[in-house]
Amino acid sequence: MEIKAISGNLVELPIEAIVVNLFEGVKTPGGATGAVDQALGGVISGLIERGEIKGKLGEVSLLHTLGRIPPERVVVVGLGQRERFNLDRVRQATASALRFLRKLGVKRAASILHGAGAGGIDRQLSAQAIAEGGLLGLYAFKKHKTVDPEPGELEELLLVERDESRLPEVNEGIRLGRVLAEAANFARDLVNEPANALTPTKMAEAATELAEKYELELEVLEREKMEELGMGALLGVAQGSQQPPKFIILSYRGDRGSRDVLGLVGKGITFDSGGISIKPSEGMGEMKGDMAGGAAVLATLKALGELKPRINVTGLVPATENMPSGTALRPGDILKAMNGKTIEVVSTDAEGRLILADALCYARRLGLSPVIDVATLTGACHVALGDVCSGAFGNDQGLIAQLMELGEEMGERLWQLPLYEEYKEQNKSEVADIKNSGGRWGGAITAAQFLAEFIEDTPWVHLDIAGTAFLEKERGYFSKGATGIPVRTLVKFALALAKAKQS
Ligand code: BES
Ligand code: MN
Ligand code: ZN
Repeated sequence: MEIKAISGNLVELPIEAIVVNLFEGVKTPGGATGAVDQALGGVISGLIERGEIKGKLGEVSLLHTLGRIPPERVVVVGLGQRERFNLDRVRQATASALRFLRKLGVKRAASILHGAGAGGIDRQLSAQAIAEGGLLGLYAFKKHKTVDPEPGELEELLLVERDESRLPEVNEGIRLGRVLAEAANFARDLVNEPANALTPTKMAEAATELAEKYELELEVLEREKMEELGMGALLGVAQGSQQPPKFIILSYRGDRGSRDVLGLVGKGITFDSGGISIKPSEGMGEMKGDMAGGAAVLATLKALGELKPRINVTGLVPATENMPSGTALRPGDILKAMNGKTIEVVSTDAEGRLILADALCYARRLGLSPVIDVATLTGACHVALGDVCSGAFGNDQGLIAQLMELGEEMGERLWQLPLYEEYKEQNKSEVADIKNSGGRWGGAITAAQFLAEFIEDTPWVHLDIAGTAFLEKERGYFSKGATGIPVRTLVKFALALAKAKQS
């Protein structure tokens, strides 16, 4: 979908549909909605009066104009309660309105900048949220469908601003929103892709394409190099699979004058069968998305390659399958990670922390700081927080707080869980330095405590996206399936870091 800013009057546009809005509880709409209402002889306020339009968040009402004004249709989208209005609600309302238009078969539509008038929201931010919500909300994974059941795509959305001198702000918002949403959608495509189409090799190829397109630096470590580096934990997980593992290192250099490099580490298990500690077959197919953390890291670098902020960022994605076979890792095996620590494998299904252990050691070797890792790490995190927010853990409270705030702003909420010393007890092994499962209780926390042993004193945040990477049913602008969480938050974080450095 193309999104363009134009100046003019929404009510006078000869177009298939226009989108206006309504806060809950408003009886006589003002602004553009009021203008449309007047031009149509009070039909909107009449419907509000009769209780047919309530203004609830995401509610859509369709009016045909029958030639009384140039636009053929008017869609009134609800913004919910005025007191609870924010940018995320602009994203949600937009997704709802645009999905509705797509279902009608509308190809061209125009919208007002939600919230930019009475809502008190900045024009640029409103335009950005509309672009984000629209492009995220219209996302569908149809790559493997040979017949498309939908009536076609919404091709063009015009954002209408009365004041021509304000168009540059609107355009800037559209640009940023598009980059963020397209990066998240790129991650969603990788996550939704089945494991036979997205092997570790294919994931490395996707990184190669990004490197070429955005002039990023790329290195892919092969098994031999991993052996040389002593990545015994990653190699242990990979040894059961026919697919060769890949350790992807993708870097964006936007500040050559600085040696500081932000590190992003993403779990890249392209399929998690559980290995010899095999998972139940029901729902196992979902484990094609166990590389969502890695996908988020690659997608973040894609967005940075487009936005070109003054900062250096290196993404690390250890990519492998976790499969059972005659060569597979066994429960009871002991592995040695890159930093020399030995690990007793209690469950081959706790493979994410094994591959991340070596990746975090490698991040330290490169001197990356701070380091943020993203992983579909534990079912326990899904149990604790559901699919509403991701788990946040770390050794730097300022960093956690900043990410939580950005996550809230971007509609990718994070919630902190503690790393109290006492939990470490559960990871103690009788035969090695540490074991890879601390048992059932506090499973998301003991997994994070395990990672902490490998990042040591580097400022670090771990995001467990096991519950949020994939939705069982549509919610707001997230369609069913991959969400692209937390790509937009990571990009915003990198932009904020770049900005903080310059002042
Ligand atoms: N990839 C899974 C975690 C997961 C579960 C992600 C559900 C998304 C949805 C991870 O590798 C795993 O299997 N974790 C185990 C750890 C346990 C064996 C200590 C788990 O959570 O059951
Ligand atoms: Mn597993
Ligand atoms: Zn896993």
